[in-house]
Amino acid sequence: MILLTNYEGRCGVYKTVELLKNKVNAIRAIIEGIKLVEANPEIHTVGANSLPNLLGQLELDSAVMDGNTRRSGAVGALKGFKHPVEIAYHVMTDLEHEILVGAGAERFAKEIGAEKYINEMENTKTAWHEFLDSVLTEEQKQIFPNIRLLDVKAKPKDPDPLFDTTVYLAQDYSGRIATATSTSGWPWKYPGRLGDSPIIGAGSYADSRYGACACTHTGEMTIRAGTARSVVLYLKMGLTLSEAVHEAVMDLVDLKTGFTNAVTIHAIDNKGHYKVVALNPNKEVKYLIWHPDLDEPKIKLAEIITT
Ligand code: GLY
Repeated sequence: MILLTNYEGRCGVYKTVELLKNKVNAIRAIIEGIKLVEANPEIHTVGANSLPNLLGQLELDSAVMDGNTRRSGAVGALKGFKHPVEIAYHVMTDLEHEILVGAGAERFAKEIGAEKYINEMENTKTAWHEFLDSVLTEEQKQIFPNIRLLDVKAKPKDPDPLFDTTVYLAQDYSGRIATATSTSGWPWKYPGRLGDSPIIGAGSYADSRYGACACTHTGEMTIRAGTARSVVLYLKMGLTLSEAVHEAVMDLVDLKTGFTNAVTIHAIDNKGHYKVVALNPNKEVKYLIWHPDLDEPKIKLAEIITT
C-alpha cells in the first residue's frame, strides 16, 4: 500500500490513510480525502473559496482513474457543486463517457443528486475585485463584463507555485492503483479554460500493472507533452520510476514555445517506489507520503530540476 499527495492535499491525507488501512479500495479512499480538500475554504486552489476566472466564477475541474480497468471519469468547467471529484467518479461509474464539461456536466450532477454549493466565498470575491481593479482601464471598468476579455492586460497566474491543484495517487491492499485530481485551475483564466487536471494522460494516469502519475502547476505544458501517460508508458518500456520521471521532465524541457513555467510530477510504481520532481519551481516543493512502515504521513521535499 502507498499514498502520495501534493502538499495542497494535506487536510485529506489522514482520512485516506484510515480508509486504506481499513481495506477500502484505492479509488474511494482517495476521493474521500480529496472531498475534505474541496470543502476546505482555507485552500484557495481547490473547491470552495478558491480564486476565480476572469468573470469571477469558479469553474472547477476534476478527474479520477481506476488503474485496474483504466476507466476514468472527469468533469471540466463545472460550476455550483461542492464535490467535483465525486461527480467525476459518477461519470466513470454511471456513464459510458470519460469526460463531461460545462452545462452537460452540471445537468449530470443534478441528475445524480450531487450537492449544490456556492463556491464563490469571501476570498474569491475580494481577490477578484482587487484583481479587476489592478488590471482594467477606467473605460473597461465602466462597461465590465461587456468588454473583450482578450484585451484584459493580465495573464492567468499561479497563485502560489507551491500550491495549485490537489493530486492523490494510491495503491491499496489488493494492488489496485488509482489517481484523482481536483482544482479550480489558474486564477483569472479565460472562461472555459481547462487545465490538465481533468485531462487523463496529461494531469493524471493510473495503470495497476505499472504505476501512476499526476501533475501540478502548468497544465498547458503537461497537456502538450502527455506527461502522466508518458511516465506510465516509460515504466511499461522497462525504465525505473526515477528514469521514467526524468524522461518525462526532459519532454517538458523540450517545449520552447507557448506558455512554459513550473511543473511538478508525482509518480508511484507498482512496487511501492515513489518519486516527486519539480521542474523550475521558484521555491521548495513539499509533498506527503504514507506507506505501512510509517506511523503517519510524512512531509518530504521534491527533487528540483532547474533549466
Ligand atoms: N495543473 C492545474 C492547471 O493547469 O489547471
